[in-house]
Amino acid sequence: METTKTTEPWRVGVLFSQSGFMAVIEETQLRGTLTAIEEINAAGGINGREVEPVIYDPGSESRAFGRLAKRLMVEDGVNTIFGCYTSSSRKAVLPVVERLNGLLWYPTLYEGFEYSPNVIYTGAAPNQNSVELCRVLMEMYGKRFFFVGSDYIYPRESNRIMRELVKNSGGEVVGERYVRLGADRREFNEILREMKNAQPDVIFSTVVGDATVHLYQAYNDFGFNPKVTPIASLTTTEAEIKAMGYDVGEGHITAAPYFQGIGNDRNSSFVDLYKRRYGEDEPTNMCLEASYFQVHVFAKALGETNSIDTEILRASVIGSEYEAPQGEISINPVCGHADLWTRIGRANQNGQFDLVFESKDRVKADPYLIGYSRNLAFG
Ligand code: ACM
Repeated sequence: METTKTTEPWRVGVLFSQSGFMAVIEETQLRGTLTAIEEINAAGGINGREVEPVIYDPGSESRAFGRLAKRLMVEDGVNTIFGCYTSSSRKAVLPVVERLNGLLWYPTLYEGFEYSPNVIYTGAAPNQNSVELCRVLMEMYGKRFFFVGSDYIYPRESNRIMRELVKNSGGEVVGERYVRLGADRREFNEILREMKNAQPDVIFSTVVGDATVHLYQAYNDFGFNPKVTPIASLTTTEAEIKAMGYDVGEGHITAAPYFQGIGNDRNSSFVDLYKRRYGEDEPTNMCLEASYFQVHVFAKALGETNSIDTEILRASVIGSEYEAPQGEISINPVCGHADLWTRIGRANQNGQFDLVFESKDRVKADPYLIGYSRNLAFG
């Protein structure tokens, strides 16, 4: 009997905001996802079948992410979803993929302290950014920290962790303030005045999206000097720096697994590919890079299993390795988070980051900070 090989595409869901106050970064994650999908399809697809993205725009509304994840799984028949930037959007998708047994690929740094068999986490956990950032900031600038964040789970939890790190290193938190998600420029004025009075050595920002631009511009207007008292962040990438202006961003600090300027051949070909597609002036960034490499990790696993069933695919993804633009990464079999590089950069006048720290190898994901706590206990 003659058998016919299916050429039906592999359908996958894609959920990133193309509108609203998070589009400044999520639009780049959509582009990273599509860059990888186009690359895979141009090379013949996966086992002869193309990848077909079903794309929705949740418009920076966390609840819309949950609603659209359900639509993807129930109406579009998709069980693999690439998406989410904010932790509140991930928390909205989580019950959907858990109830319907889907697989969310989440390409954004977050606060840690979460595990789900229905999520592959490819952004940094606190042991891969905050721990080293705290050490470097104390060495370079001093021990008095002022926290400013957007008011939702990622900033609140990241600040809880950073407060512990600062305290355990003999530092002090001299202020902690929040603005609403989507805050405008005016909402930062009072906070900046308070910062001036508190005289911190470092401002640790967990502000996200468009509000990042407003914070850094307000900081500039208030006459702070980034050489003396920089803003340090886990989320301010080349994309936000471009939006605020290179002069405004210069001198500020970000911890990230990836910066556009990393000098290796894999990254050069990735940056070239991206710029050919989206324009010479469009920088890459850590969230875009994770969005890109996670599609390749998915494709590699799917090539082996030839099944998009969540359990079968996940079993193949766990423990796999991939040469990403940031360097060799792996999906940690214990926690389903990626083992990633730790880097700390200072923004320069061209909107790029000059490295001030780089790990010697990828750092194992430890989303519950178990290794850090153990070191403290024995330190
Ligand atoms: C974030 O909300 N995980 C940046």
